[in-house]
Amino acid sequence: MKQSVTILAIESSCDDTSAAILRDGEVLSNITANQEVHRDYGGVVPELASRAHQQHIVPVVSKALKKAGVSKHDLSAVAFTLGPGLIGSLLVGVSFGKGLALSLNIPIITVHHMKAHVLAHFIDEPKPSFPFLCLTVSGGHTQIVLVKDHLDMEVVGETIDDAAGEAFDKTAKMLSLSYPGGPIIDKLAKEGNPLAFKFAEPKAHQPLDFSFSGLKTSILYNLRKEKEKDPDFVTKNLPDICASVQHTIIKILMKRLTLAAKQYDINDIAIAGGVSANSGLRKTLMEAGEKHGWKVYIPQFQYCTDNAGMIAMTAYYQYLKGDFASFDVAPKSRFKI
Ligand code: KG4
Ligand code: ZN
Repeated sequence: MKQSVTILAIESSCDDTSAAILRDGEVLSNITANQEVHRDYGGVVPELASRAHQQHIVPVVSKALKKAGVSKHDLSAVAFTLGPGLIGSLLVGVSFGKGLALSLNIPIITVHHMKAHVLAHFIDEPKPSFPFLCLTVSGGHTQIVLVKDHLDMEVVGETIDDAAGEAFDKTAKMLSLSYPGGPIIDKLAKEGNPLAFKFAEPKAHQPLDFSFSGLKTSILYNLRKEKEKDPDFVTKNLPDICASVQHTIIKILMKRLTLAAKQYDINDIAIAGGVSANSGLRKTLMEAGEKHGWKVYIPQFQYCTDNAGMIAMTAYYQYLKGDFASFDVAPKSRFKI
């Protein structure tokens, strides 16, 4: 009888502590603890994130095992995110993963966080067929990835400065909204007019690359000018401002994605990462799919933002290839695909 493969995966690269159990390619549980401590700071505070991971990691792993009905003695391997991410956050998952694997005498699998965002598409049906393009948009990254196989990916376009998620979060901060700003702007945008205000759409040197820092400056100057005329400008126009900012970010993203699809002659198009939870982006992608004859792939909400399910899925493909890591491996805050 074929022996089954059971993997415990841990994700701790930023501000979510997550654990998942996978058996033979199926994610049985995916438990995530969010960190409320960053809410009032307008962004993730690295030291607070590391401490919160320390508090969450044991309960989160226990819950994931329990929900899956799996004992730690059934595990074939322990997987964890090696990078990219915040070093203090990564260290918690890496150290815990190594310690547990050592105690159980099983191998470890180190996973690339951005590859895992792409492979979130292999958790559910329908699964994309190769090659496909994935727009991975998160708080730290914005990339167009040409996916040739599960573990063979090439970044064909990326941001030269801020990430799309950062554009959402920094705008939210300017509007005195809490962190993370993306979901709040998404909600408020539903009530607003996306064409109410116009903001700059900065271009990068390479046509498939992105630039968001100029957009941030454009929003800042616009708000400053309007507030000089009317100090209550933001309160009076909040939904319209949110809808217009979101519309501009989506326009910037979709332009590059459409160009990449044409350039690489690919009709299988996916989105991934925290910003792929954005309802405006999801809707625009579906409309673009109909217009261009694309097959579009949009992950379930729980697999858009950081989660260990996607780490488990990636680790499974690595397991099948025998791609195990040495126990002297150390986390990498910067890590190319
Ligand atoms: O992938 P993720 O959870 O963490 C990173 O690896 O960065 O992405 C987090 C980012 C944050 O910037 C957050 O504001 C953004 O995803 N985000 C959203 C939405 N949900 C999360 N942005 C826009 N609309 C949303 N609904
Ligand atoms: Zn992420």
